[in-house]
Amino acid sequence: MPSTLSFIGGGNMARSLIGGLIARGWEANQIVVADPVASQLDLLKGQYGVRTAKDNAEATQSADILILAIKPQEMRTVTQQLSAILKAKSPLIISVAAGIRASDIQRWAAGVPVVRCMPNRPALQGCGMTALYATADVDTNGRRTSEQILGAVGSTLWLDQESHMDAVTAVSGSGPAYFFLLIEMMEQAGIQLGLSPEISRKLATETAYGSGLMARDASESPATLRQQVTSKGGTTEAALRHLEACDVRKIFTDALTAAAQRSAQLATEFGSN
Ligand SMILES: NC(=O)c1ccc[n+]([C@@H]2O[C@H](COP(=O)([O-])OP(=O)(O)OC[C@H]3O[C@@H](n4cnc5c(N)ncnc54)[C@H](OP(=O)(O)O)[C@@H]3O)[C@@H](O)[C@H]2O)c1
Repeated sequence: MPSTLSFIGGGNMARSLIGGLIARGWEANQIVVADPVASQLDLLKGQYGVRTAKDNAEATQSADILILAIKPQEMRTVTQQLSAILKAKSPLIISVAAGIRASDIQRWAAGVPVVRCMPNRPALQGCGMTALYATADVDTNGRRTSEQILGAVGSTLWLDQESHMDAVTAVSGSGPAYFFLLIEMMEQAGIQLGLSPEISRKLATETAYGSGLMARDASESPATLRQQVTSKGGTTEAALRHLEACDVRKIFTDALTAAAQRSAQLATEFGSN
């Protein structure tokens, strides 16, 4: 375990990571947070007993690992402002900012090693999915620690090519929204079929939850699970036939392609070309 883990930005993602780390035995006094909003810091201090810093420079001074949990558009300014301290201290940087390339962060941050992560919203519930990518100078210990930190809020996996981050963003980063849309549409359809909104929502959300658990834990592929619940001539088959006839697979492929393209665009907007 590193002696000090500092967060730049104490918002939603920082809060869920801190909660996960403390639940896994990290000491509150190992964690330092900087955020311009005093109430944000008070909340984290009150809830978890973490240390707070008066500014980003103070948090960086004490960091063995520096987690950048700020919005993508803040990344360049913040890391450039800290570059002298980063050069002197050389902590490992872990960035959770969507769309910002590790090579850009490394260039702004005086060349220190960088792990870029793409978590997703369910991390706030402790069941996120995070893909990680490390620059070549991150050592085994840095990789292991990054995995432990993001592992505190769900599952992790490593990418060996940063270019895959756009596809990751399309599948798991933006993915929760697709499932929320599906739940929303199933709820709406249930209401149109005569159910009350409460009953329809419960049926849709619990079905999503149970199906997600099954798909995660089963040894069979999702395609096999689907076949197993689709009897010939039955109700499920009637629904799936209709979806296939409407080209639902192409619709999803096109939608995820749009998300991946937007992710690549964002990297260019906020970083280098
Ligand atoms: N939440 C998610 O589901 C999710 C999923 C994947 C990736 N991420 C990534 O995680 C990062 C953080 O997201 P979030 O949801 O935690 O956002 P958030 O709740 O807005 O937290 C960001 C925090 O950073 C603070 N901040 C702004 N400028 C700062 C500065 N110069 N120095 C220090 N702190 C500063 C913000 O204060 P103000 O409120 O005053 O601006 C805010 O408290 C983003 O880059 C996002 O792409 C989030």
